[in-house]
Amino acid sequence: MITYNAEKQIFKIDTKNTSYIIGTLRNTLLLNLYYGKKLKDFDYELCDLAALAKSHTSVEAGMEGAGMGEVHSLDFSTFGNADLRLPTLHLKYADGSVISRFRYRSHKIYAGKPKLKGLPATYVENDSEADTLELELFDELSKVSVTLIYTAFNEIDAIARSMRVKNEGENTLEINRIMSATIDMQSAARDFDMLHLDGGWARERFVRRQPIFKGNQEISSARGISSAQHNPFFAMVHKNATELSGEVYGFNLIYSGNFTAGVECDVYDTTRAYIGINPFTFNWKLKSGEEFQSPEAVLVYSDEGISGMSRIYHKLYRTRLCRGKFRDTERYALINNWEGTYFNFTEEKLLDIAKKGAEVGLDLLVLDDGWFGKRNNDKSSLGDWFVNEEKLPNGLDGLADKINALGMKFGLWFEPEMVSPDSDLFRAHPDWAMGVPGRAHSLGRNQLVLDLSREDVCDYIITVLTDILSNANIEYVKWDMNKSFSEFGSFYLDAEHQGELCHRYMLGLYRVMETLVSSFPNILWEGCSGGGGRFDGGILYYMPQIWTSDCSDAGERMLIQYGTSICYPFSSMGSHVSAIPNHQVWRECSMATRGDMAAMGQFGYELDMSKMSDEEIEQAKEQVKFYKKYGEVFHKGDLYRLRSPFEGNEAVLEFISEDENTVILNYANRLATINNAVVVVKLTGLDPDAIYEEVEAHIGHNVFANKIRIGREFSGEFLMNYGLKFTNQRDFQTTIRVFVKK
Ligand code: DGJ
Repeated sequence: MITYNAEKQIFKIDTKNTSYIIGTLRNTLLLNLYYGKKLKDFDYELCDLAALAKSHTSVEAGMEGAGMGEVHSLDFSTFGNADLRLPTLHLKYADGSVISRFRYRSHKIYAGKPKLKGLPATYVENDSEADTLELELFDELSKVSVTLIYTAFNEIDAIARSMRVKNEGENTLEINRIMSATIDMQSAARDFDMLHLDGGWARERFVRRQPIFKGNQEISSARGISSAQHNPFFAMVHKNATELSGEVYGFNLIYSGNFTAGVECDVYDTTRAYIGINPFTFNWKLKSGEEFQSPEAVLVYSDEGISGMSRIYHKLYRTRLCRGKFRDTERYALINNWEGTYFNFTEEKLLDIAKKGAEVGLDLLVLDDGWFGKRNNDKSSLGDWFVNEEKLPNGLDGLADKINALGMKFGLWFEPEMVSPDSDLFRAHPDWAMGVPGRAHSLGRNQLVLDLSREDVCDYIITVLTDILSNANIEYVKWDMNKSFSEFGSFYLDAEHQGELCHRYMLGLYRVMETLVSSFPNILWEGCSGGGGRFDGGILYYMPQIWTSDCSDAGERMLIQYGTSICYPFSSMGSHVSAIPNHQVWRECSMATRGDMAAMGQFGYELDMSKMSDEEIEQAKEQVKFYKKYGEVFHKGDLYRLRSPFEGNEAVLEFISEDENTVILNYANRLATINNAVVVVKLTGLDPDAIYEEVEAHIGHNVFANKIRIGREFSGEFLMNYGLKFTNQRDFQTTIRVFVKK
């Protein structure tokens, strides 16, 4: 619900449990008056504005007697009047000046949520689910208007923010910085830590929690993708907050390209949290009459700890960011041939793998890289999307038919945004790759990035994929992207507009994805970027799941999936059982540990199933059965992270099903400890008075072991207070325990 107090000029933006309060000061500065646990009412008079008087800072023109510009808590800011912090918006005008002074012009409040043109965003299915405030500011001198858009979801404690800038003047202007959200919080630097997710290829989204220090702490990507190095997400976590209690503010950008995010802590311990497009690789020319829409930021507040914040993101993204037929249904359990064969496969080999897949109960075989052009290694053929008939003499349709005849569906890998220099496509269109005239290309995995800021390149991708997907029974697509940008330049854009390349690329990519996913609504689409290099809300709007990491080792997945779950639901994480020794870290986790770690995400196998022993096949059958029975609890249930592998030796996750009747504990330890301590795990979120029967249990070295434990009955009170006890007997062991409320 959103209300406006006209007399005091206060906007109160409420979700079920939170309030976000902003107001204009003398019709000019837009203050952030409060964000946190829900307040019934609010009044300026109660604010301690006097505390804002400081020496040696400028007084904003027109604000005399109302505090200094640099110390106000703002919700929207520009640089260079009295406020000298990193601003929300920084414009440069035709006369070279960079100063703006926006004043309130108008506002409207309405039920529902607007779509953002050309951009992914959260949505509502019914206007009653959310209310929106559009607050318009205007700079009289430059004739620029800014519309700040705030949407409050009524039942989910999230607020979506974005901004539209319109050039109502006569001259072209430049946007040099546009944050989707900024919010100033007094004293926050003393009370809060910054938590973010960093990593690299094959070790994505490791959890970092660090104190906020004076100055600017920033995470960002300038790689063209949201990146494995940093995710467009951070949280401000109260120093007293844990996974299960305390105040946490989350900031996430629904965007797959270059971003920046961080907190600038000023001399007074006020922090300005910000998130938006990375200004370092962005300069946008806005002609007279044109508008620019920023991506959307999603802000979440919870006083139920970090897990509390995660549950809000999970619910919102699962139900009101992901779309399409597969949003609510359980998806396919699959076998992917990549780690099983790499480029070295024949039709016969794929059919052997598919037969085993069918035998263990899988739904679909994915044919990964290497089916097109003359691609027998990663040195050629990206862009030449025609089938390699030496490997697949019956074509894709012939292969799909044979796989279908085994009772399996067929899926296919593409890497549409790329081109190999050794390809017919590149020979025909060298200017379709990103690049700068006169400068040599820097290759990555022997390939180049196509320039998706070009309409013709985007149209080509749409045409080629449409053709392939229409001519074979393909029911799943894995959309890969393996190279960061280099030689940032477009042969198509003129000198003036080169600074728009990275964002135009994203707009092009989103158009391509929107066209394809809406033309093929029955295909299940999975995003991928050298593993989880583009794991973000932007992709989830088009593709409800993403390959989480190129590291398929179950031991590393204890870290990677834990970190990913800080913002993204398990339903979005592709997660497979792969061979041992593992191909990335050479570790040998048991079959059961591998199954238990994969079962939480979108489950599959990624090995040569035709080489599995009879015993492994039997274990796989059990695993598929377990997944089909309980996958929904992992995907739609509430997640509580009980122990962090970033702070200790265990990753312990508890899932409670949507109907609250099924509870699953996944206890995973990393190293075994000799003569070891008992680890007590107290469950949470249960009904203390209810009785929970343990219906399934196994220890990770053997899926068949430990069935004897089942049948015991525990009260919720017992499980939450006495808890369950574990020892870490073997390296990288998981224990699964399933309880059902009686
Ligand atoms: C990177 C992906 O993450 C892998 O799963 C696989 O599809 C390879 N690319 C294929 O080249």
